[in-house]
Amino acid sequence: MTRLTTLLGLELPLIQAGMGAVAGPALCAAVSRAGAGGTLALYREPPARAARLVREAAASTDRPFGVNVVPEVTGPAACLDQLRAVLPELPRGAFVTSFGLPDTDAARAVHGAGYPLVVQVGSVAEAGTALGRGAAVLVLQGTEAGGHLLGRMPADLLLAAVRARYPQAVLAVAGGIATGGDLADAVARGADGAMAGTLFVPAGESTAHPEFKRRVVGAVADDTLITSLFEIGWPHRPHRVLRNPLTTAEERAPATFIATTRVDGREHPVPRYSAAAPGDGTTGRIEEMAMYCGRSCTGVTARDPAAVTVARIRREYESARRPGTSSPGPTNSARTSGSREPSQIQER
Ligand SMILES: Cc1cc2nc3c(=O)[nH]c(=O)nc-3n(C[C@H](O)[C@H](O)[C@H](O)COP(=O)(O)O)c2cc1C
Repeated sequence: MTRLTTLLGLELPLIQAGMGAVAGPALCAAVSRAGAGGTLALYREPPARAARLVREAAASTDRPFGVNVVPEVTGPAACLDQLRAVLPELPRGAFVTSFGLPDTDAARAVHGAGYPLVVQVGSVAEAGTALGRGAAVLVLQGTEAGGHLLGRMPADLLLAAVRARYPQAVLAVAGGIATGGDLADAVARGADGAMAGTLFVPAGESTAHPEFKRRVVGAVADDTLITSLFEIGWPHRPHRVLRNPLTTAEERAPATFIATTRVDGREHPVPRYSAAAPGDGTTGRIEEMAMYCGRSCTGVTARDPAAVTVARIRREYESARRPGTSSPGPTNSARTSGSREPSQIQER
């Protein structure tokens, strides 16, 4: 047990990241039933649909789960609308995660409803602001993470800096977690747990497009890169994705529509360079879309049901943490092998 498991009522100090186009009610509930922190992505979901998705997740698990908001994408007003729609639907023991700082109104709404607020940050300064807004847990995102990047430091450096500044804070790291050994290693370095996203992209219950799942399973860390290319719908925020024809092209192609995503029977066109990831309702030039993926992908090699993945992580974590075990156990070599990129924030 760590302070994270106690605070959120989990059996394993691991939170599954809320991931737009990937983490719907099925993945969230499967991870939650397996004893880790399943999380439902709300991303751009309109309030009524968000509330319906929360009801679906709540009907499929009796264990704690979270909902994830991304205020930078929705804007503060729409984020508050989402929260007002979903908070009344959440069971006791649920939690709310935010990618980046929520504004004070959003933070107050979560606290007022009695749920712990988990805030993902990328710097010591943001960590301080999040604590000031009442965050119960800080998720410290390193530049090895998949998806949009909040900061410019690898997770272990950020953890050391935030732990030194806020010794009592409940801290989870995000980035580089693919095995129970990675998780044990993070805890040994002073974290109370971790958040993982890429690990769950290929899960049976994930709604990622099958081609996205296939590529994550087949990829190693250096198949990913940090870029700012996929900016339509989410500008000014670098992101780590799998290399694809657009990231390797010399010249920018026109931002014409390249795919269509169907949600609730309605078709949404996807332009080239859109921030949207390919989900199971997407058709078109999937290979040109943003497939967010962390350096942890080296250790992500199977398309198992989420419960199988969580059970494996739990076994590896417990054996690594057993008294008398001197090493934290098998870790994801991509993170620990020193193959760190020359500059973690180099972009193209
Ligand atoms: C496919 C994908 C989509 C993501 N979407 C979101 C999101 O909607 N909200 C969020 O808080 N974080 C999102 N993230 C970032 C995660 O919160 C986290 O920082 C990251 O997954 C950690 O690195 P890892 O992927 O190597 O485990 C996403 C990550 C991936 C891989």
